[in-house]
Amino acid sequence: MHPTIETRYLNLVEELGLGRREEVSTIIPLTGGVASDIVQVIVGDQRLCLKCALGKLKVDEDWRAPVHRNRAEYAWLEVAAQMIPESTVALFGRSQQSPCFAMEFLEGDDTYLWKTSLLNGTLNVDEAISVGQAIGKIHARSASSAFSTEPFRNRDDFYELRLDPYLKFTASRHPAVAAHLESLVERLYEASSVLTHGDVSPKNIIFRDGSPIILDAECATMGDASFDIAFCMNHLVLKAVHLPAVRSELLNAALEVWGTYVHYVHWESPEQLEAKVCELLPALMLSRIDGKSPVEYLTEENRQVVRKLSLKRLQTPCISLERLMTSIAYQLENDR
Ligand SMILES: Nc1ncnc2c1ncn2[C@@H]1O[C@H](COP(=O)(O)OP(=O)(O)O)[C@@H](O)[C@H]1O
Ligand SMILES: [Mg+2]
Repeated sequence: MHPTIETRYLNLVEELGLGRREEVSTIIPLTGGVASDIVQVIVGDQRLCLKCALGKLKVDEDWRAPVHRNRAEYAWLEVAAQMIPESTVALFGRSQQSPCFAMEFLEGDDTYLWKTSLLNGTLNVDEAISVGQAIGKIHARSASSAFSTEPFRNRDDFYELRLDPYLKFTASRHPAVAAHLESLVERLYEASSVLTHGDVSPKNIIFRDGSPIILDAECATMGDASFDIAFCMNHLVLKAVHLPAVRSELLNAALEVWGTYVHYVHWESPEQLEAKVCELLPALMLSRIDGKSPVEYLTEENRQVVRKLSLKRLQTPCISLERLMTSIAYQLENDR
């Protein structure tokens, strides 16, 4: 590890009162993400996870984002700790001097990253249900007038981190649907009805004792509820393309996320929200092929399948998510 990065973590341990720098025995970088330097640190006999935001993200395209998003992330994790205490990581403070914070290092026998188990073809529908519940509770509670929105007026960061690299960049590569994608960007930018996490991806969800702990809330903003649900379903749909042996289970799990979540929707009509998810999901599918953060596990043939499928569904949106999943399943089996 570069000495200045090591010094940064040693300073953070001391600033947050977690121990003295001499007590730090190990600093191990964690992999998987593109937006942060994140490490496991052992201080005395305590294992911690320290995370600092990067100004330039680790992707091929030039993608920069303001590091103060680390503040929004910490604030989201604090809100989650109150709203869904069964599903949270313990927090140990955020730096006043650098865009960094400390949290519990999640580990143990019944602890696993959802992405790893999904890519191994191991899927339990209860996982999808519990994720739908967790997002539903946070959206529903944040839609109340008593909720303090001050730390989450972050739509410009959300634009930099999500709308521009995913939808706008994809619009620039697909003139046939560019106007449609631009209109989605505008609608999502203007929205502020609920607290959205912005990155509900299996690589950001660690299950511990059956409860999903949602991490990596750098994109948190007051926004449109459709984003988190479509984003999460998209990850399951793309894995269904990749893994034919568990395809129907994955598409069913995507539907279960929605089917569980919809019971919490009180701030707008569930039908209207479902229509928005039906429209956004194909847009996000296409964005993971031709946006700035392409999915890494699909073959070129499967990328082409997703392109064709998502363009078709963008041009002719389905009227329900059940129909959308059925049409995706049909196309994957019959119309490659
Ligand atoms: N508190 C934690 N305990 C254990 N592992 C973690 C913790 N937080 C993150 N990780 C692991 O590190 C990876 C990257 O962390 P993440 O917060 O998602 O950073 P990035 O913004 O770079 O994606 C996650 O995918 C997860 O595997
Ligand atoms: Mg991540």
